[in-house]
Amino acid sequence: MMYSLECFALFLAIISFFFIHIWRIHRNLPIPNLPLLGMLPAILFNVSNIHEYATTALKHYGGTLKVRGPLFTNINFLITSDPMNLHHITSKNFVNYGKGSEFHQIFEILGDGIFNSDSHNWKYQRQLLQSLFKKNIFGNFVRKVIHKKLDDYLLPLLNEVSESRTFVDLQDIFQRFTFDIICSIVLAFDPNCLPNKLSQFPEVAVEKAFNKMEDAILYRHLAPRWLWKLQRWLRIGHERDSISCQQILEQFFRDRISVPGEEKSRFNNYIKDDDESNFDMIKSLVEEGGMEQVDYKFLRDTAMNLLAAGRDTISASLCWFLWLVSTHPNVETKILEEIREKFKTNEENWLISEVEDLDKLIYLHGAICEALRLYPPVPFEHKCAIKSDILPNGDPVDANTMVLYSIYSMGRMEEIWGNDCLEFKPERWISEKGMNIQVPSYKFMAFNAGPRSCLGKNISFIQLKIIAIALLWNFHFQVVEGHSVCPSVSVILHMKHGLHVRVTKRGN
Ligand code: HEM
Repeated sequence: MMYSLECFALFLAIISFFFIHIWRIHRNLPIPNLPLLGMLPAILFNVSNIHEYATTALKHYGGTLKVRGPLFTNINFLITSDPMNLHHITSKNFVNYGKGSEFHQIFEILGDGIFNSDSHNWKYQRQLLQSLFKKNIFGNFVRKVIHKKLDDYLLPLLNEVSESRTFVDLQDIFQRFTFDIICSIVLAFDPNCLPNKLSQFPEVAVEKAFNKMEDAILYRHLAPRWLWKLQRWLRIGHERDSISCQQILEQFFRDRISVPGEEKSRFNNYIKDDDESNFDMIKSLVEEGGMEQVDYKFLRDTAMNLLAAGRDTISASLCWFLWLVSTHPNVETKILEEIREKFKTNEENWLISEVEDLDKLIYLHGAICEALRLYPPVPFEHKCAIKSDILPNGDPVDANTMVLYSIYSMGRMEEIWGNDCLEFKPERWISEKGMNIQVPSYKFMAFNAGPRSCLGKNISFIQLKIIAIALLWNFHFQVVEGHSVCPSVSVILHMKHGLHVRVTKRGN
């Protein structure tokens, strides 16, 4: 007995010595790779600040790094912020990098929608959506929905906030606002999450379900696959939430997506069917897709993907943009000067007559790009290599390896943006001739690059500009003293503590 205890103590001493020795070698590295445990302890230790941590590590390792997890786990991937690698992955060797089965499992809620598809299925959906988004009637409908929501809800609400002299969480307001807009665009149904009065903020189950799903998806990125699968089987933790959210979303789509023969009007809560300027996305999908029989699953998956694409991306962009503008008074002044100088304003002070008028706002465009560069709503993405490959920086990629790219880190690389890369400078996007500078998408990755770049980029700029003009022209926003603003750890770059602001009405 005594002998075995001694042996055990000796074994522990050798192991401890070994670990301390390795730790000493690695301690000055931003991301130590420990025997058996790999880089997981360092990642977990820094998880609350993961985007900055990844940026520091990527800078240290010249833009690309192999991440190793503990032995016997599936955590083994390559992370990069090198524009040449990204040009290769997203465009030059596009055929070799798909979403892969890992992505499909993590994002199972997206079904077989465009985000979660590869090859023929993806191509078909891309062409279909592209042709719908190009239609004039679609663009006009989007503008109409935004104007209505601004006019009837957001502006009156902010007016009340300014009179009450209280503070509000703009993040919560924007999430509700953009959810109402995207549901109106995709389903022709307004769930009315955003009230026009301060006292009536309703709890809308489906909006809550979206938020919870995002948490569950993030968890699946961090936990080993076997663990979250076990939790799903046992119906515990994030997986239990994910199951109940899925049921809520399922019911929501069943109620909203009518198929011929079923008596469900999708227009009863929003805009009358007989208005010619209405756009019916579901009907157009059926017609444009030449479907002989309505495929409910296809329509549901498409609607789900579009809701996921267009809701939080816009609300997160608005939050970071307004925060940056309100903390840079010189930028705010220049935006207002530009609106005054180049823009037709009517009695309501913000409505635009033609979408082309938005193109005249060069400085505002630069300010929005700058916000998206520093705080991209989709902070990271992943692809899976189909065959083994060599990246332009010389790193080999094995078949079936996940390649993660940090869009957040790319916006903070001196090599791409210069030594002042951490500064918010809309001027960066304006040429000497006073035109907007076009940065290649593999350097400015907020909307992804190559054949899978965002289909909603144009609509997003239109939305962001219309909303920014309406808000900044009518109100001044001041962040509540002492309120801390920092990114959350999530699949969309939200603000961890929201955005608490006081609102003052402007006298233009
Ligand atoms: C500021 C707002 C937005 C940002 C930053 C953004 C960003 C992105 C990114 C990074 C991707 C690539 C995702 C991936 O491959 O996994 C993407 C794809 C996509 N986005 Fe957006 N997005 C925005 C708004 C929108 C809107 C409003 C819509 C439409 C309602 C939209 C529709 C799509 C679609 C359909 C795809 C899939 C493209 C494909 O796989 O071929 N996006 N977006």
